[in-house]
Amino acid sequence: MIKLNSKEIRERFLKFFKHRGHTLLSSASLVPENDPSVLFTTAGMQPLVPYLMGEKHPAGRRLANSQKCVRLTDIDEVGDQNHSTFFEMLGNWSLGDYFKNDSVEWSFLFLTSAEEGLGLDPKKIYVSIFAGDKDSPRDEESIFLWKKAFAKAGLDARVYGEETLEPADDNLKPSFRIFPLDKAENWWPTGGKHPGPQGPDTEIFFYWGNQEPNLAKERIGFNDKNFWEIWNNVFMEYSLQNGKYISLSQKNVDTGMGLERICAVFNGQKDIFLTDLYQPIIRIIEMESQLSYGQDEKITRSMRIIADHLRAVVFLLGDDSRLQPSNLGHGYVLRKLIRRVIRYQKVLNIPLENKNFFEQIARVIVENYAETYPELGRNFNYILEELKKEEERFHQTLDKGLREWEKISKKGSLTGEEAFLLFATYGFPLELTRELAAEKQIVIDEKSFREAFKKHQQVSRQGAEKRFRGGLIDDSYENVKLHTATHLLQSALRQVLGDKVEQKGSNITPERLRFDFSYPQKLSLEQIRKVEEIVNTAINSALPLNFLETNYEEAIQHGALGFFQNRYEKKVKVFTIGDPQKPFSKEICGGPHVKNTGELGHFKIIKEESTSAGIRRIKGILE
Ligand code: SER
Repeated sequence: MIKLNSKEIRERFLKFFKHRGHTLLSSASLVPENDPSVLFTTAGMQPLVPYLMGEKHPAGRRLANSQKCVRLTDIDEVGDQNHSTFFEMLGNWSLGDYFKNDSVEWSFLFLTSAEEGLGLDPKKIYVSIFAGDKDSPRDEESIFLWKKAFAKAGLDARVYGEETLEPADDNLKPSFRIFPLDKAENWWPTGGKHPGPQGPDTEIFFYWGNQEPNLAKERIGFNDKNFWEIWNNVFMEYSLQNGKYISLSQKNVDTGMGLERICAVFNGQKDIFLTDLYQPIIRIIEMESQLSYGQDEKITRSMRIIADHLRAVVFLLGDDSRLQPSNLGHGYVLRKLIRRVIRYQKVLNIPLENKNFFEQIARVIVENYAETYPELGRNFNYILEELKKEEERFHQTLDKGLREWEKISKKGSLTGEEAFLLFATYGFPLELTRELAAEKQIVIDEKSFREAFKKHQQVSRQGAEKRFRGGLIDDSYENVKLHTATHLLQSALRQVLGDKVEQKGSNITPERLRFDFSYPQKLSLEQIRKVEEIVNTAINSALPLNFLETNYEEAIQHGALGFFQNRYEKKVKVFTIGDPQKPFSKEICGGPHVKNTGELGHFKIIKEESTSAGIRRIKGILE
């Protein structure tokens, strides 16, 4: 039996693919660079979208890495054995190079080879493949390749539902190991409805049971607790554009394996929180609470939530994008995670005055990970400061909330709306309000609390949808102004440097804009001054903004700029700045924008640098 800790498993994975011609990339930021439609990087492929669509990657056609990811879709599941908000995704990619053959063979080899991989028992491995539909045929090639891979390991793998278990070879006992599933299960991105690169996938599962699975009751792909999905190999050969699947110019492979899960599988313990990725955190929680992990369901769940959320918070604060807890977008997620930690800290009776608790945990997380993700070390002080500030802010809110509670509860009763006010405005979880109410023998109308809660959820969901449609995560006025300034900047750059300038990315915080564009060399001081001057003249001319809705092709024909074709929906908005017949700027964009450039103030470029070959980056502010 080989023994490996999480660090060695990560390294083994990277080495395995490096040995097979892959260039190793460092993890991209948790905040997507060029994609304002999502808050966080949720998969290793996300930062690679332009290259999956055909753009040349400077590091070649075979890539691998371990990517920091945050997925919030499962936040309510966190607390069980295998869900987390933050996780690391190990991935290998072929950009129009190898396809299904090598992908399947290497995945199986990495999982089962004791020399180069993890030495897992092949009998524990089961797979699903795409069953086929009107858009794409059944994945016969993957069936063939999986049969071949299993056969090498002495297993006769059959397709569930289509083959019998009649032995063809007296020496081999056949078993159902290959499961055809439909688009809802075996397609990435899930369901095949998002624009952009995609395709059928084959997913690899580990079976936890001691004997063979009872397929009448247990089945992969149906959230069976005994089958854990450990690796997903996507064969990206399509792009969804204007509601149609179009064949990509190149066939890609995109794979992803969650490090936390594979470590648990490797350890033979069906609980990611028992791996060395979480154990140092859990030990601190045990020490501070004087309770034991595994002692009972409620305690274990609370410890898992604290460990998961604080790990996510440390990685988010430790990201070079310098996020801050707030009431909007990324900041809101940070705030919510931290407040949930405090709530479970209370469940475990760890005193809220224990100022050391967060710091101890942040410290072990950074110690464990800083070698792999050096930004955590760089930003360590920032992480501690922000954690402390947010904790203090929460205590202030709590104090205010308690005063409000004293006022409301004087009358000896509490409506659901009032309980909801304590929740929404002062961050009081219902449990806390219940406890306080019980002390005064007040009963809360929980039904009307739930109704108020539902109403609020609907409103905030609508808000979120609006934000996604608008394409901006944080539509505060400062951001909106900088967004409009970005359009002016692109136009000014093209006036000074020519059509070679094409937007490659944009990122806006309330303080500054950041704009990446193609251009082969450093800008001279004179060019920078000229660009600033053009932008400021446009601002001073108080130009109006207008938009109209059309489709992508038409927008381009009419001279609108739009460099993210694969991301646009059927209908696009075209924003013009200045006279719509002879505009200063015309771009496809979701908005929102200011009404008039006169609102912007004064524009200044504070930095001009290179990000990679042929790409320049400008940071600018409005004063
Ligand atoms: N993008 C796929 C996933 O996240 C494979 O990397 O599952």
